[in-house]
Amino acid sequence: MSSGAYEAAYEASMQDPEAFWAEAARGIDWINFPKTVLDESNPPLYRWFPDGRMNTCFNALDRHVIAGRADQPAVVWDSPVTQDSRTYTYAQLLDLVGRAAGMLTALGVQKGDRVVIYLPMIPEAVVSMLACARIGAVHAVVFGGFAPAELAARIDDARPKVLITASCGVERTRVVEYKPMVDAAIDRSQHPPESVVVLQRPQAEAAMGERDIDWRTAMRPDGVGAAGCVPMLGSDPLYILHTSGTTGRPKGIVRDNGGHAVALHWSMTHIFGMQPGDVWFTASDVGWVVGHSYIVYAPLLAGCTTVLLEGKPVGTPDASTFWRMIEEHKIAGLFTAPTGIRAIKKEDPEGTLIAGRDLSSLRTLFLAGERTDPDTWQWATDRLQVPVIDNWWQTETGWPICANPIGTQLFPIKPGSATMPSPGYDVQVLDAEGERCAPGQEGALCIKLPMPPGTLETLWGDDDRYVESYLSAYDGYYLSGDGGYIDDDGYVWVMGRTDDVLNVAGHRLSTGGLEAVVAGHPAVAECAVIGVADELKGQVPRALVVLKGAEEPTEEEQERIRAELTQLVREQVGAIAGLQRVDIVAALPKTRSGKILRRTMRQLADGDEPQVPGTIEDAAVLDALAPVLRRR
Ligand code: COA
Ligand code: AMP
Repeated sequence: MSSGAYEAAYEASMQDPEAFWAEAARGIDWINFPKTVLDESNPPLYRWFPDGRMNTCFNALDRHVIAGRADQPAVVWDSPVTQDSRTYTYAQLLDLVGRAAGMLTALGVQKGDRVVIYLPMIPEAVVSMLACARIGAVHAVVFGGFAPAELAARIDDARPKVLITASCGVERTRVVEYKPMVDAAIDRSQHPPESVVVLQRPQAEAAMGERDIDWRTAMRPDGVGAAGCVPMLGSDPLYILHTSGTTGRPKGIVRDNGGHAVALHWSMTHIFGMQPGDVWFTASDVGWVVGHSYIVYAPLLAGCTTVLLEGKPVGTPDASTFWRMIEEHKIAGLFTAPTGIRAIKKEDPEGTLIAGRDLSSLRTLFLAGERTDPDTWQWATDRLQVPVIDNWWQTETGWPICANPIGTQLFPIKPGSATMPSPGYDVQVLDAEGERCAPGQEGALCIKLPMPPGTLETLWGDDDRYVESYLSAYDGYYLSGDGGYIDDDGYVWVMGRTDDVLNVAGHRLSTGGLEAVVAGHPAVAECAVIGVADELKGQVPRALVVLKGAEEPTEEEQERIRAELTQLVREQVGAIAGLQRVDIVAALPKTRSGKILRRTMRQLADGDEPQVPGTIEDAAVLDALAPVLRRR
């Protein structure tokens, strides 16, 4: 870590990206080192390391065992909700993954086939993902908090041969039965999997049907042989991860094998400052990109120990969980979302639960998923006495677009800023005309193409949608969907989404998806869902609905409809999308062309100065709504 090291790395990545990433590619093992580093023959689609041959699982497991890390813990599972914990060394994990890969092979899964994984935060989630990588199957992990309709949409997009699930997940306050949700999703899907592998958990055993296979039986060492690593091209897909866009239809982000392994491996040292053997804990969920990249792949590619928490920062059992874990597991790097820290701060404002804990192993706290607000940053900095580092990225990019690259050079921290663009990312702020904004001027945060390795290749089965969604607003640029600015010192400030994507407790949700559910209620004529500011979760969804019929319903009827709508969203999207409030209103404000003014409503609800477009159809509608929006 030296002064000027960042600039040298960043400049090198801009001047000669191919040389920069070819060098980084030497950090992983290849069967055939790539001859082509970047294939630019089909812009705006780019491929990294297309002719290199490697296997991601080999790089995450086998090579560490070969290099002498067989007995080092690879995964530590800590489950306060079940009062259980388990540690797997690299050798033990390799054994399990080999057998899980053998089980999938026996079920007919071949290279390129898809496997949907719908699991809670248990080691089998990591095992399943790596087993897919081992045999070249493409995994599509679906967050366990999503309801059957959302799961069904992802099944239909991925068309998996096999689905892996557990009988249940254990949440803070309840046991969530997964298997009935899987059955319901399969019932409504057009392309159901041939087999469903079920891990039975004692908290709620699942009823098994014809296509169901018991995980433990299928994994018995005497019943299944271990599968070896299938050589993959660098540009072959490793996984699909669905994320929310503005419409209800999720986008299947496609990640490759080679670029992903190179970038994630490189990021662990150069951005996060971790070394092989370090203990690393990301408190997220394997169903999100933060979980894919920094619970599973990056720490294992880098030879670290990754800690998996089945629990929450608070309530399992209290706000000391993270501190206990740092002490017990000797965690060097902790990565979570600001909302997790806010939840702890709310329960234990003075941080009294930190006292008496030995946190001396902790070197850095990393925060991502939403902007780190300066209050949260200050609280964590004061209490933990380590650098607290905000980093900005998205499902699409897979690793930080911007960070304070402590592994290369630590910049003075400006709370609220994501600091510097990571090497490989040419971040530009563009105005509506596509011109570069001056320092300090807010605009659309864009990345000049080609993006670095590890970023999305395309959308699953839909290059056109990829180009249309991300690459067509500004020629030659990737549109991040976030707005912000770059200050005079080159620090990047991310100010929030410029589209209708919601961010609830670091979970990304689609306004359009929620509106489709609300609009599906028979009493609703029209609706809008907006994300309003929330002290704990950053944003929470709020619905405004116009009812059918000329007569105003009684207060009792309104109450019933409000409750039904809240329930409908929980059932169809998931509990994570809990509507904070539902207001029944006479009309929604629109432009003359019929576009609902969600942003203006959100500004009113948040107490910000509303920007009312000149094209508003009827300003009186907005005036009438203002007092309703200001209600909490
Ligand atoms: N399976 C099933 N249900 C789930 C679930 C899962 N994997 N994850 C969440 N849910 C349910 C919860 O049980 C809860 O249900 P309830 O309303 O019946 O109690 C609901 O979804 C909302 O969960 P959550 O958003 O987690 O809120 P919370 O109030 O339980 O916890 C925080 C609040 C801030 C502690 C929690 O959101 C958190 O730990 N966030 C950390 C940030 C994070 O992991 N972000 C991910 C991206 S980095
Ligand atoms: P996801 O794809 O679910 O990871 O969500 C990505 C979105 O979360 C981004 O487009 C941002 O809007 C937001 N986000 C993530 N990290 C940050 C951050 N550090 N600062 C500001 N916004 C962030």
